Amino acid sequence: MTRRRSNSNHNATRVRDSVAAALIDQQERHTMKIAVINFSGNVGKSTVARHLLAPRLDGAEVIAIESINSDDREKSGALRGAQFDELQEQMMMLNNVVVDVGASNVEDFISLMQRYDGSHEDFDRFVVPTVPVTKQQVDTIATLDELRDLGVPPERIRLLFNTVDTKSDLRKAFTRIFDHYERKGGFVLNSEAVIYENPIFEKIKPFDKSIIEIRDDPTDYVAWNAKAMEEGAPDSQRAYIRQMVALKRLANRAASELDAVFKMLVH
Ligand SMILES: Nc1ncnc2c1ncn2[C@@H]1O[C@H](COP(=O)(O)OP(=O)(O)OP(=O)(O)O)[C@@H](O)[C@H]1O
Ligand SMILES: [Mg+2]
Repeated sequence: MTRRRSNSNHNATRVRDSVAAALIDQQERHTMKIAVINFSGNVGKSTVARHLLAPRLDGAEVIAIESINSDDREKSGALRGAQFDELQEQMMMLNNVVVDVGASNVEDFISLMQRYDGSHEDFDRFVVPTVPVTKQQVDTIATLDELRDLGVPPERIRLLFNTVDTKSDLRKAFTRIFDHYERKGGFVLNSEAVIYENPIFEKIKPFDKSIIEIRDDPTDYVAWNAKAMEEGAPDSQRAYIRQMVALKRLANRAASELDAVFKMLVH
């Protein structure tokens, strides 16, 4: 009897320890399933998925909802149950995943999460980027309300201020959102979860690389530029090198800013 009890105590301790270890492991390795969502277009969902979230989650894939079963989509134009099934299956096979819910699919996506009871629990986070434009703030509030009504716990819903002007007052630029938060809550508003307006997002587009990849590119472009000048390299090559010098400098700073924002969103 005593022995059995001590065994079960021992087992309980082991289970508790392994759960704790898994949690620590999860935090350290950033095992996370994240949906990036907003009824509005142009708030930076794809940018956030691609440059902020996926590169900081071990082996994470970005699943763009638009891309699922595009053949069927062409026929219906709507996100259907079958595609949602496929998404859920894909998510169960992956440790880290970022789902970029295109604006045209958000409504369907939310009603499917309603239909498939509990499916929102597959997501550790709903990251909701927003920008100062009034229409986008109004849509952001609608998105936050929908997620709350779906039963998503407030701590899983993370607002992210995007394209913020460094000189602006955040409270003033996002008055509607702050007011809504104070009146109704239901999500996490962190005044430091901010991505500033940054030309890097435009400049990086032709490269098909994340900001982290550009930062970690070991090439010494400054030295290469000097060598290219010395050797009279073609203009196009020298222009490319100059572009990379500028991009890497922007990437260094932007990557560390994004590191800090990432921590705020996942912890
Ligand atoms: N912090 C930023 N600074 C400067 N430009 C940005 C920033 N964030 C996003 N952008 C730019 O804003 C535009 C819209 O961003 P993005 O495509 O990520 O939005 P989206 O929400 O995915 O839009 P859609 O709903 O159409 O898919 C892009 O050109 C992107 O480069
Ligand atoms: Mg997009």
